[in-house]
Order: sequence, then structure tokens, then C-alpha cells
Amino acid sequence: MNLDQLNGIAEAMVADNKGLLAADESTATIAKRLATVNVESTEESRRNYRELLFCSKDIGKYISGTILFDETLRQKTRDNIPFTELLRSKGVIPGIKVDKGAKPLSGSEGESITEGLDGLPARVNEYVALGAQFAKWRAVIRIGEGLPTKFCVDSNAHALASYAKICQEGGLVPIVEPEVLMDGDHSIELCQEVTENVLRATFYELYNYGVECEGIVLKPNMVISGQDCLESTDIEEVASRTIATLRRSVPAAVPGIMFLSGGQSEELATEHLNAMNVNFPGQPWKLSFSYGRALQQSALSAWRGDDKNILVAQGAFLKRARENSLACCGKSTLNGN
Ligand code: 13P
Repeated sequence: MNLDQLNGIAEAMVADNKGLLAADESTATIAKRLATVNVESTEESRRNYRELLFCSKDIGKYISGTILFDETLRQKTRDNIPFTELLRSKGVIPGIKVDKGAKPLSGSEGESITEGLDGLPARVNEYVALGAQFAKWRAVIRIGEGLPTKFCVDSNAHALASYAKICQEGGLVPIVEPEVLMDGDHSIELCQEVTENVLRATFYELYNYGVECEGIVLKPNMVISGQDCLESTDIEEVASRTIATLRRSVPAAVPGIMFLSGGQSEELATEHLNAMNVNFPGQPWKLSFSYGRALQQSALSAWRGDDKNILVAQGAFLKRARENSLACCGKSTLNGN
């Protein structure tokens, strides 16, 4: 696939007023989410839940693409329609998580390295044949006593760059996701310093590996204080620090930045994105969302594994999708805007 084609997919992912639904929770993570509403995680319950989301009427009005887990990419609806086909019929591009998760980084206590490079070119070929057009790889960076180490930041940047190169060569647009976690009591200032450092290291390696910026999507954390930090930060400060950090570290050739929600509440994730688009219009890249929890929490609580609740759950999901779509152009109606 040439760069124009990769760029075309990336541009479609960040189409005006649209974002991504991250529904690529691993088997272990989705089991935790389902347990919160007393649903046992089985292949069938996972399929039912994902079908509920993907069959929501109007999903394609707000959602440009969905990130899937390997199992889901191969599943079908109750009516035997492959999920990939269903999504495409609604104008939603199927994507695939290709990393194998964050594992302990040997040589650095408390830090992790994302695995999954072994055999990746062959898996990319298979995913393209199954209908995926983009991929995701998440690196995890923890702030703590003496953390993150340069070793951890650099090791993850290398892996992200290697993954991104393999995807571009195989015909998938790589979502590059270096996530600085919200866990901890760190200040917003420290999150800003670490995030800038991580993004600079990541783009340095992307350049070294020959990854074309026009054919990627960046999925970063917002600059935000740790969830146990006692000092509260207002929405405007998160927006201004996030934009300043991105402007210092992300090349203008990147088509779009699609944030993760990372444990923020549904409302705050929307309000932060909205504030960036209201207060800082005209950035070189589109600013949109690729939320997991912040798009799904209400829907999952409304569903609770019961078919009778499907319509209400779909309504809850579409409400979040619509608000985030509005936030992409600074028109969210939350907070009286
Ligand atoms: P959250 O929005 O729940 O952080 O999930 C997004 C994601 O895909 C993390 O890799």
C-alpha cells in the first residue's frame, strides 16, 4: 500500500466530527468490565455485548472506526453477518489491536514493555485479508518514584516504531499509542513533562525507522494530574497544557490525534476534548477521540447482560458518541456550552 492510500485511511479515521470506538479489550480486560455488571465472560456474552454496540442505529454518524480484539474480528452477528461486514455497511472502518499486552520490563522494577512483534508481519497480512484497515499498539508508561526510566521510554518507543513500520509495509494504518497512566498522585506539571518526553522519544524513533507521519494516527493521553492528586485542575488547564505539549512534540504531518480516555469520567473526557477544540482551533492535526471506557461505561451499566435492555444501552452509547462528536468541533452541549 502506498503512502497516499495509508493517508486516505488515516484521514477517514479523523473525518470531521467523528472518532473511534475502542472495543478491543483483551479477554482478561473485558472479563473485568463484564464482572462489574455481573455478567460472566464467555465467547457468547462478549459477542452479544459487542454486537449491541456495533448494531446501534446511527453509529456511523459519530464513529469512523472501531478497534477490535482478535476474537471479535472473527465473530458474526446473531444473523450470521461478519462483524467486519456489518461495520463497513454502517460506514465504520474495522481496526485491530495487534499488541500482545504490556509485560514486566526486565531490568526495571515496576515498568512494562509491550510485546507482540514476533510474527507480526504474518498477522498483519491475515488481518488485512480479514478486512482490517488500521491497527493499534499501546505502550504503557507509569509515573512514580524515579519513574519512568529513560530505558523504559526508549524501549517502548523502539517497539512502537517497529510495529508502525511493519503495519505500514503490510497495509494497515498504525495507531501509535504511548499512554502515560493517570495512576498515582503526581501533579499535572509532572504529567506534562513526562508526556512531552515520551512523545519526543516516540517521534524520534518513528523517524529513525522510516515511518511516514502522514500514514499514522497518534493516540496519546491528555495532560492531566494523577487520579490520587489532591490538587484539582480545571478543564481549561488540561486543554491548554495538552495542546502546548502536543505542539512541542508532534509533527504537523500527522493527520490526527485521537485521545484515549484513560480512566477519566465520561463527562470529563468529553469536556476536555471540547475545551481543546473551542479554545485552540486551527491546529495542524484534527483533535478527536478513541475512547474505550468513556464511550462504553453507561451502555454497559444499562445492559447488564439482559436482552431487554439492549435499546436503552444503545441509547446510552449513542448519547456519549454524539457528545464526543460534538466535542470534535467544540460544540458539546455539556456544561451549558
Ligand atoms: P480508554 O479510553 O478506556 O483508556 O481505552 C482506550 C484504549 O484503547 C486503551 O488502549
